[in-house]
Amino acid sequence: MKRKYFVKHAIIIIFVAIFFGNTISSTLGIDNFLEYTNKNDYVTNNQEFLLPEPKHIDMVLEETIMRRMSMRNFTDEPVTDEELSTVLWAAYGLREDGNYTVAKINGSHSVLIYVLLEDVYKYNPENHSLVFYKEGDYRDIVGWQYHAPVQLGLCWNSDIADINFGSAECGAVGQNIYFAANSIGLGTVITAQLEPAIEPVGLPVNEKGMGVMPIGHPVIDYNFVNRPLFISLLPRIKFSDMALTTALEERKEVTSWNSDSISRKDLSHLVWASYGYSFYIDKSNSNVVKRHHTLPSAHGYYPFRIYSVTKSGISRYIYGLFKIDFIGLPIVSFLLRIANGDKRSEIADATDSFVSNAPLFIIPVLEIEKTIDWDDLSDESVRWIWYYEAGASAHNVLLQATSRGLSGNIVSIKNKEAICSILKLDKEKFDPMFVIPIGI
Ligand SMILES: Cc1cc2nc3c(=O)[nH]c(=O)nc-3n(C[C@H](O)[C@H](O)[C@H](O)COP(=O)(O)O)c2cc1C
Repeated sequence: MKRKYFVKHAIIIIFVAIFFGNTISSTLGIDNFLEYTNKNDYVTNNQEFLLPEPKHIDMVLEETIMRRMSMRNFTDEPVTDEELSTVLWAAYGLREDGNYTVAKINGSHSVLIYVLLEDVYKYNPENHSLVFYKEGDYRDIVGWQYHAPVQLGLCWNSDIADINFGSAECGAVGQNIYFAANSIGLGTVITAQLEPAIEPVGLPVNEKGMGVMPIGHPVIDYNFVNRPLFISLLPRIKFSDMALTTALEERKEVTSWNSDSISRKDLSHLVWASYGYSFYIDKSNSNVVKRHHTLPSAHGYYPFRIYSVTKSGISRYIYGLFKIDFIGLPIVSFLLRIANGDKRSEIADATDSFVSNAPLFIIPVLEIEKTIDWDDLSDESVRWIWYYEAGASAHNVLLQATSRGLSGNIVSIKNKEAICSILKLDKEKFDPMFVIPIGI
């Protein structure tokens, strides 16, 4: 009797365990995902796709910066899972130390990346996976500007950040996408419009589209000629031996510094990374020979001024006295002294007290008049466009700092008027966007 009772209950328990076990795991969408975790396989369970291990990018940081340029025409050759994984990890991956591959902007991370393939997915940095979002091929709708096998929709969460800081973090993410793509033979371009192109996908109300980046194999190969024709009073830019992946893994934000000074070599590399021109001449299009900046700019306006502040004074980085370089003219770059004396505590008063002991601040400042040409992008309501560029510039500085054994931070400005006054700028005509303290 007892045995019969035991068998009956055992059968019920086994039945319940199987039934609920399956229900719970399929509700969470993790059954295949867990099963395949160790295989680094691209797995489907209709909900979550685990991406393969990202490739370690060996190309040194400075070379990927020199090679940064916008590509707009792509072949139909598919982007492999490993290539997509590598680009996404670089873009916004979660590192082993729990930090992202980009710094927080104004104290938080707000970026979300939609990955448009034959269906729509969302990148989940937590486990480096693609989460199924919506059925349907939106690539040519959202990515109407440039047909490509992958379209990445850069968005930000409006519960966490405002439009300017959200856009600035997208700028940092966008740089990583440019660098990773060019180093593995892919191409990309940031595209942005006033009405976000991602909208047809239908986002949750608190998610806002910033820009779209097509990813694919460029129709025309990268074709650079090393022509560092710089007439510069600053030390020459040298390649470090730090691979891009290492720089992305090792970048760190600090709030105090051990030394009060910065070498001229470091200063030269940091201002160059922030907005300078590449040493490489781009010959990929035989009709136009170009030199690219270290970051993209909406309409190619490049409306920023870069200031450096050290204990000896304030200088403006002149990154190219002759703007056009199509016949290979030298780029004339130097630091133009604006004011003597130590203004760092005044900068700290206008930003955050912790920055006061940094040996160097780099300050990207928007020159508003330069955002008005054939298309007027000067209004406050579209300032987010320029925050994208400021975020890109700040991110470049942090990566360049990493490869030179330095670290820094991206600090928002509480009192813009005070910063304009310190830099001797008219507050109606200039908009300082971040202060980037750097040092050892
Ligand atoms: C915020 C932002 C928006 C942009 N939007 C577009 C765009 O809609 N279409 C496009 O072809 N390029 C766009 N660009 C790319 C610029 O045109 C490009 O960076 C600039 O012409 C310089 O060329 P380069 O990136 O090859 O050096 C954008 C760049 C930025 C920073």
